[in-house]
Amino acid sequence: MRQTLVAGNWKLNGSKESIQTLVKGIADGMSDVDGTAVAVCPPYVYISMVADLLDGTEIGLGAQDVADQETGAYTGEVSAAMLKEVGCQYTLVGHSERRSIYGEQDADTAAKFAAAQKEGLTPILCIGELLEERESGDTENVVARQLDAVIELSGVEALADSVIAYEPVWAIGTGKTASPQQAQDVHAFIRSKIAGLNADVAAKVQILYGGSVNGGNAAELFAMEDIDGGLIGGASLTSEAFLAICTA
Ligand code: 13P
Repeated sequence: MRQTLVAGNWKLNGSKESIQTLVKGIADGMSDVDGTAVAVCPPYVYISMVADLLDGTEIGLGAQDVADQETGAYTGEVSAAMLKEVGCQYTLVGHSERRSIYGEQDADTAAKFAAAQKEGLTPILCIGELLEERESGDTENVVARQLDAVIELSGVEALADSVIAYEPVWAIGTGKTASPQQAQDVHAFIRSKIAGLNADVAAKVQILYGGSVNGGNAAELFAMEDIDGGLIGGASLTSEAFLAICTA
């Protein structure tokens, strides 16, 4: 039985004050969350502060991105070792906003995935298709290509110590959620693709759904066989909305 994970990706949002309120609100509501692991991914500069605020809670901590390099002349980058040192357990890699706005390629994401695992961070590998890719029937090809880049570099066994987040790009921040069946179909495809290489890894890996998840649609999505939780954007920015998903 895979454990459910709900992770909040705060993206480029928050201030010291709003984040203190948000973390306190989530921590206070955790007594109502049963059997689901919860994590938050603040902007880099607030990670240390959030680590202190989370001390003594069950809430996990992740970054939104990580450098593909370990150290050296890479202005603006933050390494996996640094993230680990300030208290992260997770890091997102390959979020669609990194891919589509900042030009991150499949190979870059794969290198970040490997860099994270090398330092003992659990990568949350984000994959998903654009609207035009779905409309042209390419959804499975796209997620397979994105997964293959990681499998080629790190091996399929590496996926056992990772989390996959399927986030159809057309559902992110649009209020347009994939139907539970649409999401389940892609999750089942991802799991069966992995099972073709290693059945134990496929049975173990958590596959989260992301894209306009909220308190009203989370329960139905999370009830699907291959959906093991959610990666939440907009609805992770208030404790009420986020906790409604964590308790769903
Ligand atoms: P929304 O929940 O705002 O659609 O964002 C999803 C997402 O991108 C999480 O990484």
